[in-house]
Amino acid sequence: MRIIFFSFFYKTTRLLVTKLIYLTQRLTFQKKDLEPAIKFGDFCLTALIPLKRFTYNFEIPNNIQVEIFNLRFRSPLIGSSFKSNEKIISIWLDMGLGSAIFKTVMKNERLGNKRPRIQDTYYNNEKGIVNALGLPGSGTHKFSKSLNDSILWNYDCPIGISIGGDSSSEYVENIKKIEMNQFLKEKQYFYELNISCPNTTDGRTLNDSPDNFDSVLKEINKIINVPISIKISPDSSNDIIRKIAEICSIHDQVIINAGNSQYKSKSELNIPSNSLTTIGGGLSGTSLFNRTLEVVKILAPFNIPIIATGGINNFDQIEILKKEGAVLFGMATALIFNPYCIPKINSNLKNV
Ligand SMILES: Cc1cc2nc3c(=O)[nH]c(=O)nc-3n(C[C@H](O)[C@H](O)[C@H](O)COP(=O)(O)O)c2cc1C
Repeated sequence: MRIIFFSFFYKTTRLLVTKLIYLTQRLTFQKKDLEPAIKFGDFCLTALIPLKRFTYNFEIPNNIQVEIFNLRFRSPLIGSSFKSNEKIISIWLDMGLGSAIFKTVMKNERLGNKRPRIQDTYYNNEKGIVNALGLPGSGTHKFSKSLNDSILWNYDCPIGISIGGDSSSEYVENIKKIEMNQFLKEKQYFYELNISCPNTTDGRTLNDSPDNFDSVLKEINKIINVPISIKISPDSSNDIIRKIAEICSIHDQVIINAGNSQYKSKSELNIPSNSLTTIGGGLSGTSLFNRTLEVVKILAPFNIPIIATGGINNFDQIEILKKEGAVLFGMATALIFNPYCIPKINSNLKNV
């Protein structure tokens, strides 16, 4: 009952806030831009944290835990790497996520692309989001320092650290820098290599030509003693996906995450040219689901733990993906559109 009420409240408020902000932008001759609505939405959500016992706290059924390598996920639902506001991530963990992954961190501080760089959109009649953020962030040095104060460690679950890079060596260097932080030694964490970002110039080098991917993994395994997830692109050919999976399967403690957003140009999305400052961006949301399922089927024979990500927002999809071999389920857009899907899916999983 509580889930139905808050679900309705959240969706209605989100719709009203976005419409109001778009209207204000039109009346003041500004470009349509979803970012102010996201910031205002985050402000409203955090303002309700003092009431979290009623608004956000949902018990996670204890029979839905998943253990992979030495990691204990409270639920198979994972907050995909996309959000940097830790308070919001903590709200989703309170709602019942089994784990969350920090937004991808790059070597240097970055502002990302010019705005507007994120919009609500439709593709194949399915509502989604297109983003061309371009990985804004504080850079590995500041990020590593900030880990010590992160509120995400207060949750009894693994936390993922997503690493980006503009070259093979940069991934290794970035991990080296973060591993210097001794604080991490006592924590339950894993890495994720984002080799599939569609919004940076060289963020897909390893994904698109995986020839030296094996040596990168070898280098990284010399530095770390924790599991690593490899996040691949749904835009890759099936042959490339098989090649990456083959390499992953010969290394220890490797998980594979299928996958990132799909690159689409503004004309493919049928959105005005001034809605993004870039030629296109990463599409996310329900329309990705069919490709996620295809990719999971391709990966299943390799016997690597699979995180299915892309278009997931309900229990039925999880049942389908689970049958094909996925063990964890990443979500990004569903958390933006209605995070109350988390307790709903968890309570369905309990009854399986
Ligand atoms: C606004 C936004 C920002 C994102 N940033 C990242 C990121 O920093 N690193 C990453 O690996 N994926 C990023 N993603 C991709 C998501 O993690 C996810 O893989 C993708 O959106 C598909 O899942 P979904 O359909 O549940 O959204 C981002 C997605 C969105 C919508």
